[in-house]
Amino acid sequence: MKLLVTGGAGYIGSHVVLEAERAGHECVVVDNLSTGLESRINCRLEKIDMASSDAAEKLSGLLASEKFDSVIHLAARKQVGESVEMPERYYLDNIGGLANLLLAMRETGHQSLVFSSSAATYGMPDTDQVMEDGPTKPINPYGETKLIGEWMVRNAARWGLRGVNLRYFNVAGTGQPGLADTAALNLIPIAIGQLRSGKTPVIFGTDYPTADGSCIRDYVHVGDLARAHVMAVDYLERAERKFDTFNVGTGSGASVIEVLDELKRVSGSDFKPIIGERRAGDPPRLVANVERIEKELGFRAEFGLAEIVESAWNL
Ligand SMILES: NC(=O)c1ccc[n+]([C@@H]2O[C@H](COP(=O)([O-])OP(=O)(O)OC[C@H]3O[C@@H](n4cnc5c(N)ncnc54)[C@H](O)[C@@H]3O)[C@@H](O)[C@H]2O)c1
Repeated sequence: MKLLVTGGAGYIGSHVVLEAERAGHECVVVDNLSTGLESRINCRLEKIDMASSDAAEKLSGLLASEKFDSVIHLAARKQVGESVEMPERYYLDNIGGLANLLLAMRETGHQSLVFSSSAATYGMPDTDQVMEDGPTKPINPYGETKLIGEWMVRNAARWGLRGVNLRYFNVAGTGQPGLADTAALNLIPIAIGQLRSGKTPVIFGTDYPTADGSCIRDYVHVGDLARAHVMAVDYLERAERKFDTFNVGTGSGASVIEVLDELKRVSGSDFKPIIGERRAGDPPRLVANVERIEKELGFRAEFGLAEIVESAWNL
């Protein structure tokens, strides 16, 4: 199949391109290289800012000139803290970018879309595992843009779009040298960055209602996540349903303390983490229920915490 991958020069997007090419698909990437790196990809790159005023026209031109079997839309801003500081930028880039893409897809008769959503759509859930049909109450503008994006995909079913929203949980690890996450916004890359620069990793809160008192998250290897995208494209080829949402996680959680223990093992450094205060907006536990994605897509994560931390440390 021929796939258009927006944000394909980014951390996750470049893994999606790699996995899609391994599965025999041809990829074209649209990216404005705001956080992406051209060096991460070998396929054709169309440099377009999807949120610019002429983006719908440019994207229509591209989609009219060649037929894509499916579009995977990852291009977005992803920093929660920054989204609180400048929400307008997030609404413009994340919602505006998707609106421009949908306009172009509608105009050119492209009807298959996989959308990068996030567990941030759930906000502060109070359950052991979150299910796709559970409440969505994002607590920051970033999470809001992802939830609105999901609604936009759902509403486009009216004109014939077949869409899948993938709600990623905590994405980490690296699939190949050169593709690592350079933004370092979540625990694993942050802790690795601290260790490498001679600092000590910090645990934000050890008084949560969890077994060891630190927060629990569902860490999914970026290579597994990339494979889920390729499976979602296949699903859209055969699915009768026009719209669906899937959690992408492992279904089991690891605490901050467990992650740092794994990092001690992999790095050979016996550091003693600093115990800091809780951060606002951190749910004690955020773990995916993965029954739906297993049943409908046949997806199951292959890599566990050890492989995630090892790949993040070594690659
Ligand atoms: N990394 C995570 O843990 C995580 C978790 C949940 C969801 N997501 C979502 O996954 C997607 C990819 O995230 P990532 O971690 O690879 O981030 P990233 O910053 O590495 O990749 C984003 C890519 O999109 C491009 N981009 C941004 N704005 C653009 C625009 N207006 N026009 C064209 N290109 C644009 C960037 O240059 C970059 O290549 C995002 O939609 C993000 O919200 C990420």
